[in-house]
Amino acid sequence: MIVDSGDLLNEDEVIPATIEQSARMKAEHMMELQKVIGFDAVNVGEFDLALGIGYLKELAQKTEVPLISANIVDAGGAAIFPRYVIRNVAGKNVGIIGLIGDTGDIPNKVKEITNGEASVSDVVAAATSAVEELKGKVDYIIALTHQQANRDYVIARRVNGIDLVVGGHDKQRTESPIGVDDKSFIVRAGEKGQYLGMFEVDLGAGKSSVTHELVPLGDSIADDAKIKAMISAYNDKVFEMYSGGGETGVNPASNAVLQNEKCGTCHANHLAKWKATDHAKAYNTLFDKAKNYDPTCLACHTVRFEQPGGFNMKEQPMSLVHVQCESCHGDAKDHLASLKPVPTPRPTIDVCAKCHTSDRNPNLVKDAKIFMDKIKHQ
Ligand code: HEC
Ligand code: HEC
Ligand code: HEC
Ligand code: HEC
Repeated sequence: MIVDSGDLLNEDEVIPATIEQSARMKAEHMMELQKVIGFDAVNVGEFDLALGIGYLKELAQKTEVPLISANIVDAGGAAIFPRYVIRNVAGKNVGIIGLIGDTGDIPNKVKEITNGEASVSDVVAAATSAVEELKGKVDYIIALTHQQANRDYVIARRVNGIDLVVGGHDKQRTESPIGVDDKSFIVRAGEKGQYLGMFEVDLGAGKSSVTHELVPLGDSIADDAKIKAMISAYNDKVFEMYSGGGETGVNPASNAVLQNEKCGTCHANHLAKWKATDHAKAYNTLFDKAKNYDPTCLACHTVRFEQPGGFNMKEQPMSLVHVQCESCHGDAKDHLASLKPVPTPRPTIDVCAKCHTSDRNPNLVKDAKIFMDKIKHQ
């Protein structure tokens, strides 16, 4: 069986209006890919709700992807998605329950993202009642969870009958399954489909007879021809949607006069040093991959994407491509007009982390100094 713990569709809770159309298109393509890959169950994460509950349900119906959640509930307390599914594998019935965390900021996020349409109910109670219904009908029960990793122990310990917890949300990876009280296991496979967690259980030999492998989905694994074609089709549609009839193979930024040039009149050294960094070619990198019209890429390869005065999809100002001074120092319009201080005179590593996410730079915080030194520009 193939399962996912949620948050596959969107990377953020707020989707700017100007990219909503492409965000929907991406979500639709993701769900179609899930269908072709053959997912048996997909849990709903809070970001999955960002395009609207109605839209998400519509997509699930259209693509027939089994989205589940036992404790994302409506105003009357009723589950909005199917709470669980039952699958038959090699003659055994397996129940899969979808769960989202009821602690930390998740419940508030769910309310905010859905404008109060949905809330999160008690996760242990929801899991327990689903398990009660499944008992006698299935040979094995899996909980797909979307919560802080430490909360997975609570599910594994307190809900009798759950054999395996497949955790998500916290971006963590388990090299080997974590056994809990000799009755269940917890596994996690990181984020962004970078790893495939392969968990095998021999029910004939008892539920504790398991093997597990975390397979990195790197270049050594060949692309699937059908999936690759679907991704190309998506890229073509994005190009059509945002290129304004532009030609493929022409970099619209090649003659751009950058906003940075304005800073260079007084900060000539800073500008010269910046030009030698990779930040000064970030948009070209996307162009080389034919991805320079994809909002999901431009978000970190331009200046202050979709913020006031920043790069936006509607106008696509070429003066604001690449990672320029204002990407780190903030909107400098008042500084330019009257030399008021810039919003962030000495950016800290948190500013870098907005783009240098944990999947890209896992040691960012630990090696902050080394990393900062690489962009020194006094
Ligand atoms: C007309 C000249 C001028 C222009 C144009 C200019 N600056 Fe400045 N900038 C200054 C002066 C003067 C200071 C204050 C003295 C200093 O710290 O060097 C300063 C300070 C700064 C500082 C450091 C603040 C601190 O407290 O240490 C940053 C960052 C900065 N500018 C960024 C920019 C950016 C980004 C641009 C372009 C959007 C820009 N500047 C354009 C003159 C300018
Ligand atoms: C707006 C997003 C954004 C911000 C903010 C940002 N970067 Fe980057 N950074 C990028 C992108 C995109 C690249 C890749 C550019 C390319 O090769 O086309 C990059 C590349 C780099 C590289 C070279 C590649 C590497 O990993 O060694 C270094 C070093 C770097 N950034 C340091 C920093 C530091 C330090 C900060 C914070 C002070 C920072 N960046 C803030 C987007 C950002
Ligand atoms: C969350 C911010 C973010 C988003 C979104 C993003 N990138 Fe990047 N990208 C970075 C940063 C930071 C780097 C530099 C660190 C690294 O090399 O991993 C980078 C580096 C790259 C590089 C490698 C440059 C090199 O030569 O080493 C490529 C290629 C790239 N990005 C393409 C893309 C594409 C295509 C997309 C959209 C599908 C995308 N990026 C979306 C932040 C981002
Ligand atoms: C990748 C993020 C990033 C970019 C892009 C960037 N800066 Fe900075 N800047 C920093 C950081 C981080 C510091 C603080 C360095 C420190 O404290 O040693 C800094 C410090 C400064 C300072 C004050 C420190 C000093 O003594 O010089 C100025 C002025 C400045 N930057 C100007 C610029 C200008 C002008 C540009 C564009 C040409 C630019 N920066 C681009 C991250 C960035």
